Amino acid sequence: MLDIVTYGHEALAKKAKPLGEFGPDIPAFVEEMYETMIKGHGIGLAAPQVNRDLRVFVTGLDGDKLRVFINPEIVATSPEEADYEEGCLSLPGLYTHLTRPAIVKIQAWNEKGRPFTLEADGLLARVILHENDHLDGVLFIDRLNPSKRDRALAQYLRKSRM
Ligand code: NI
Repeated sequence: MLDIVTYGHEALAKKAKPLGEFGPDIPAFVEEMYETMIKGHGIGLAAPQVNRDLRVFVTGLDGDKLRVFINPEIVATSPEEADYEEGCLSLPGLYTHLTRPAIVKIQAWNEKGRPFTLEADGLLARVILHENDHLDGVLFIDRLNPSKRDRALAQYLRKSRM
């Protein structure tokens, strides 16, 4: 089980590096990411959240298989947007409504080094966009307008100190 870092940790605020080589350690790392996400009751987890400087994230929605996205690139997003309440394992206890594109097309590699392209909508699209943001050092609260962001952050910091 990997340790999840929370808001304020530098790993959450920087652009992660692409995975250069699909070494033999990658499938085991991906397994650890899955375990950590599941134990944390999350539906997505990005490598920077476990303090690994890699462009890797995993998803695990109810009713969907576990998915890994290595060196992902967002190919396209829909002009239509959707509203969901988001949370993040690195900001425990904080949930806010956020608008993002409703559909996303993404290209990535799996743990065996095989490339794939996926078009997702609904909650999977939402999780992909949220986790992909982590690889660029962007948190979901950074997508709020400044006054909403400040309010959400103040609420989180108040709670996390209790
Ligand atoms: Ni998150």
